[in-house]
Amino acid sequence: MGNVLRGKNIIIGISGGIAAYKTPQLVRLLKKQGAQVRVVLTEGATHFVSDLALATVSEERVYRSIFPPADTSGTDYTRHISLGEWADAFVIAPATANTLARLSSGLCDDMLTALFITLRPGKPVVIFPAMDGQMFLSPSVQRNIRILSSQGCRLITPDSGELASGLSGVGRMPEPESIVLSLEKAVHSIANSSQLYGKSVVVTAGPTREKIDGVRFISNYSSGKMGFAIARSAAERGALVTLITGPVHLETPSGVKRFDVETAMEMHDVAENFFKSCSIFIGAAAVSDYRPAEPFEGKMKKEHPEIELTLIKNPDILAEFGMQKAPGQLAVGFALETHAGLDNARKKLNAKNLDLIAFNFFDRKTSGFEVDTNILTLIDKEGVTTELPQLTKDQAAERLLDCLEQFCVTTQL
Ligand code: CTP
Repeated sequence: MGNVLRGKNIIIGISGGIAAYKTPQLVRLLKKQGAQVRVVLTEGATHFVSDLALATVSEERVYRSIFPPADTSGTDYTRHISLGEWADAFVIAPATANTLARLSSGLCDDMLTALFITLRPGKPVVIFPAMDGQMFLSPSVQRNIRILSSQGCRLITPDSGELASGLSGVGRMPEPESIVLSLEKAVHSIANSSQLYGKSVVVTAGPTREKIDGVRFISNYSSGKMGFAIARSAAERGALVTLITGPVHLETPSGVKRFDVETAMEMHDVAENFFKSCSIFIGAAAVSDYRPAEPFEGKMKKEHPEIELTLIKNPDILAEFGMQKAPGQLAVGFALETHAGLDNARKKLNAKNLDLIAFNFFDRKTSGFEVDTNILTLIDKEGVTTELPQLTKDQAAERLLDCLEQFCVTTQL
C-alpha cells in the first residue's frame, strides 16, 4: 500500500470520552508518516486531554468553536470552511454517543460537527465510536451508526475488553497504531476508486525559455506551481503521471515521472511522444507563443544602436493534442486572461478541441503566476461552468481534478 498518508492533510476530531487521552499519540504517529495534522476538540474532550498537549504534538493551534476569539485576524473568521477545504481525510476518535447523534442529525454547533459538513465530497471520514458496551449496543447509537454508514462514513467497530466503567465488553477505542492502519486503508481505497486510477496522465508545467543568444532568453513569470499541484494530486488518485516541465525550482511530486525541458520546441517534442498513449493531457505550462527566428551563437555584443528581433510562432502543444486526440482521450487546458476572460476561455475550449478549460483570472496578487493562490472558473465542453473561490494552488488542483472526474462519470468515459 506504500505510505499513502505522506503529505496528506488530516483532521482529527476528538470528542469527550476517556479514550481521548490516547490521541496525542495518534497525532504523533500520523506526523511520523509525513501527514500534516490539525486537531479539533469538542468541549467534552477537554476534560480528558489538553489543548496544549495536542497543539504541542501537532505543532498547530487546536480548534474547538466555530466562533473565533475577538482578537482574531482576517482569515480565521471562516476557518470552518477553509479547514474543510484543506482536509484530505477526517478521523473522529473517540466518537461518543452524543457526537454520533450530532453528526447523524446534521447538527453543526461546534467546529467538529461543522467540519463534518464542510469537508469536500469524496474525502474519507473514519469514525471510531468508543463508549460503554451497553451504550454502544443501544438502539439509538446503532441507528446513528447506520445513518452515518449510509452516508459513506467508515464506522470502525470498537474493540472488546476492559472498559472505564469497570465492566468488560465492546466499546474500547482501538489503539492509535490500529487507527492509523484503518485510515491508511480508507485513503488507499478512495484512491483506488478514483476515475483517474490507473490512467496515464500527462501534465505540462512551468515556463519555457526561448533563446535570443547564448546567454539571454525570452520567458514569463510562471512558477510551475499549478502544474506540479495537478501532477501531485493526479498521482495521489492513482494516475500514472508524466510531468513535462520548463525550468522551475520545485521538487518532483512522489510517484511522478518528470522530464525537464527548456524551450517550447523541446516541450513539444517530449509531449508528442505521449499523444497516442496517454488518457488525459493537461496543458498547465505557460508556453512561449513565439521564439527568436535565429538565435545568435555566443553572446551578442552591444555594437548596434538598435536591433530588431524577428520572432516566429511556436507549435501550440495542447491544440495539437486536442486536434488529434482519439475518442476517449481527454484534453484539459488553461486560459490565462487579463480581459474578456470567460469569452476567451470558451473560444479556446472550442478552438483547441478541449474537454475542460480552467479560466485563470490574472491579477498578480491573488491569482496567476508566482502567487500561491489561484481563482479559477472551470468550463467543460458540455457547457457546465463551475466558479471556484480563491484557493491555494493545491486546493485548486484538487477541485479541477474533481471536476474532471465528474466529467468522466457524466460522459461515461
Ligand atoms: N498552450 C500550449 N502551447 C502553446 C501555447 C499554449 O500547449 N504554444 C496551452 C497552455 O498550456 C494552456 C493553453 O494552451 O493550457 C492556453 O494558453 P494561453 O497562454 O492562455 O493562450 P494561448 O493559446 O497562448 O493564446 P493567447 O496567448 O492568444 O491568449
